[in-house]
Amino acid sequence: MRLQKLRLLNFKNYAEADVEFNGLVHCFLGRNGSGKTNLLEAIHYLSLTRGITSASDTDHIRHGADHFFIRATFEAGDRRKEITCTYTPDRKKKIAEDGKEYSRFSEHIGKYPLVLVAPGDIELVWDGGEVKRKFFDTLLSQLDREYLDQLIVYQTNLRHRNGLLKMYADRPGIDRELLATYDARLTTSGKFLHERRRAFTERMIPLVKKHYAYVVNDSLESPGITYSSELDTLDFGKELAARLDRDLILGRTTVGVHRDEFRFTLNDHELKTFGSQGQQKSFLIALKLSEFECLSEKNGFKPLLLLDDIFDKLDDLRIVQLMKLVAGGSFGQIFITDARPRRSLEALQQAGISAECFFVEGGTLKVNP
Ligand SMILES: Nc1ncnc2c1ncn2[C@@H]1O[C@H](COP(=O)(O)OP(=O)(O)OP(=O)(O)O)[C@@H](O)[C@H]1O
Ligand SMILES: [Mg+2]
Repeated sequence: MRLQKLRLLNFKNYAEADVEFNGLVHCFLGRNGSGKTNLLEAIHYLSLTRGITSASDTDHIRHGADHFFIRATFEAGDRRKEITCTYTPDRKKKIAEDGKEYSRFSEHIGKYPLVLVAPGDIELVWDGGEVKRKFFDTLLSQLDREYLDQLIVYQTNLRHRNGLLKMYADRPGIDRELLATYDARLTTSGKFLHERRRAFTERMIPLVKKHYAYVVNDSLESPGITYSSELDTLDFGKELAARLDRDLILGRTTVGVHRDEFRFTLNDHELKTFGSQGQQKSFLIALKLSEFECLSEKNGFKPLLLLDDIFDKLDDLRIVQLMKLVAGGSFGQIFITDARPRRSLEALQQAGISAECFFVEGGTLKVNP
């Protein structure tokens, strides 16, 4: 799959822009605030129907304008598809493929997949649990439909059970039969998620090691992922019953896969505590490239790879290695942003890669500086 053309109207700091992409490696170079990330964000909209951050759709309309419009032409084999996204406040956001509007965005999401590596992703390294669980859940749900179904069962029943526990905190007369129904569903879906998360961690470890070793060009740094769950040692169903009194006092379920932990390590030490900024960033990139590999295998074609500001904190050697890796042919079409054009141009040259460079300035794009 290749993104061939992109058109923006009133999107963030772009009044109007038309870009055509040739080849597979594209760089957006320019100063801070010039509009590099905004271009990636427009692509993100067309792939995932929303922006990169949690900002509202309205925030993406250029100041003073009353709507935004994005259009892209994608090439897949000998087929061409035109995707558009239109948003006007107080009206529904519209996503269409070849002029045909989707009634449900879920029908579109996944058809034009992408993997984004962005500065905000560092949260994934620093987070205690929630963000990591969400990363693995989102990825696993894309790879395995049954996982998504069981995750929904688990989350729904957990919410109901917690609601019931809170209710009983204020009044007597526990409906044990209803609780038992929730417990049974939680046990079955929880065991399923536990098994799949364990197997998936085992699958990810060698991929992360492979990409990390290539980027850092050093065999002494060994990254790892560990997965731990209360279900490793406990019988989930029995434990839910055994903890009921405590759960009633606390008003929440204190055992289960919603408390699972993924840990990222480097040479068996906690990455978030002991890893340097460059090491943390390298790990994150290796993790995202592993995500890319899993998605490619599942889909049978390569997602777009968007690398926003990824060279920051990396030394020159790692930058060149990374360029060689992503442009080496296994990663399809790539979009890279950098606020330091010379750094990127030099790295491209050293890696022997021919890329298409766009110079971005105040919401305009030029092929030559
Ligand atoms: N709704 C909007 N209307 C107009 N301009 C906007 C809007 N939202 C953001 N901007 C502008 O877009 C610019 C930021 O663009 P972007 O994030 O793409 O910059 P960047 O080139 O990636 O910079 P950096 O190198 O700092 O990451 C800022 O100047 C900001 O004021
Ligand atoms: Mg940016």
